[in-house]
Amino acid sequence: MNTVDIIRKKRDGETLTSEAIRYWIAGVSDGSIPEYQSSALLMAIRIQGMNDEETAVLTDAMAHSGKMFTPEDMGGFSVDKHSTGGVGDTTTLVLIPLLAAAGLTVGKLSGRALGHTGGTIDKLESIPGFRTDLTLDEFLGLVRDTRLALADHTDDMVPADRILYELRDVTSTVDSLPLIVASIMSKKIAGGAQGIVIDVKTGAGAFLPALEDSRRLARSLVAIGEKLGRKMSAVITDMSQPLGRMVGNALEVREAIDTLRGEGPEDLALLCCELGAELVVFAGAAPTRDEAVAMLRGLLANGQALEKFRSLIAQQHGNPAVIDDLSLLPQAAKTVDVCTAHAGTIERLDALAIGRAANLLGAGRFTKEEAIDPAVGIEVLHKVGDRVEADETLVRLYVNDEKHLDSVRQMVVQAYAIDSSGAVHEPPELIVERIEGSA
Ligand code: URA
Ligand code: CA
Repeated sequence: MNTVDIIRKKRDGETLTSEAIRYWIAGVSDGSIPEYQSSALLMAIRIQGMNDEETAVLTDAMAHSGKMFTPEDMGGFSVDKHSTGGVGDTTTLVLIPLLAAAGLTVGKLSGRALGHTGGTIDKLESIPGFRTDLTLDEFLGLVRDTRLALADHTDDMVPADRILYELRDVTSTVDSLPLIVASIMSKKIAGGAQGIVIDVKTGAGAFLPALEDSRRLARSLVAIGEKLGRKMSAVITDMSQPLGRMVGNALEVREAIDTLRGEGPEDLALLCCELGAELVVFAGAAPTRDEAVAMLRGLLANGQALEKFRSLIAQQHGNPAVIDDLSLLPQAAKTVDVCTAHAGTIERLDALAIGRAANLLGAGRFTKEEAIDPAVGIEVLHKVGDRVEADETLVRLYVNDEKHLDSVRQMVVQAYAIDSSGAVHEPPELIVERIEGSA
């Protein structure tokens, strides 16, 4: 096998053999193929693409580049959920205990905030004492013993993705469908889940804002996961405006607890039940999606999902008293209300702008190394379709450092379009489209 030949073949639009792809990923992982050759091949893939067969082999090779969990490691059939990233998307914090309450096994490895989107690991770490840095043995021990664990990725899983992602970042090859699919699915496959649902966001705050791109990504994720033997489903959901009301780490923990109590925002509860239903059906815990949704709604209403969150916090060394006393979460020094200039109906609320404003307050990070402030963020009091009066509070800012407060205030005001013509504006449909697997 010769790396120059592999690059030339892809450059000329040929299909790579399974051996060639596996040879490349082995060379990426052990450092024997230099970065300049991998960069050239990434660019050739970015321009020429890959068919499903090539993408599946690439995904599988990447998944095998480090430690990989088997169903036996996970104690049987387990499920996982992935989101392509959103603003104020608190879904995982609600969904994981909710699925555990439904009797499913959920062992999930999650990520941190990057860009304008939040990360589950940062949110969990706002709970005093909560440990996300489990070793793989600790993680698997919990999955087998309690059928529930939620931890940070470790360096010994899917090392090829980390190496390739860094190269893609500096060679303008991030936006390649097969490379995105292989990157996402290699981590899911290595995580050991047999049933996987992907929440593909669409709209202004999404990683791919255009619906047609979200659709292509969703279809490809489902196809590749199925080729690799997993039960797959994808749901395309609206991220034109933030999900729920809270954007920020401790604020989203608060929102998750409210939702697990049955008192959270309806869009968040709906999304959790819709995504969860796919997995409940995969696991055979309910015969149809409608029955699965009803079951999950019941577990939010009767407090059982909340009790699973309490157990999750306790078993990972967090203080479970936060469930009953939200003041134990980090609190911002002050709140600042941003109000409307005129009355009208909200026509648009730009998720991307709200995400960026929350970051500027310190809720997220612009580079991987930055620290986040768990206490700060934005509470969104009005969303698309709401009627507001003049001088009514639109958002409440939770602030520690006031350095960027003026810019934040301006970004938030500009995130809204308020129509005073008297026209009616409907909120966007949250569930845009479902991409079913063949299972
Ligand atoms: N998310 C990933 O994990 N990888 C990509 O390439 C893009 C988004
Ligand atoms: Ca939220």
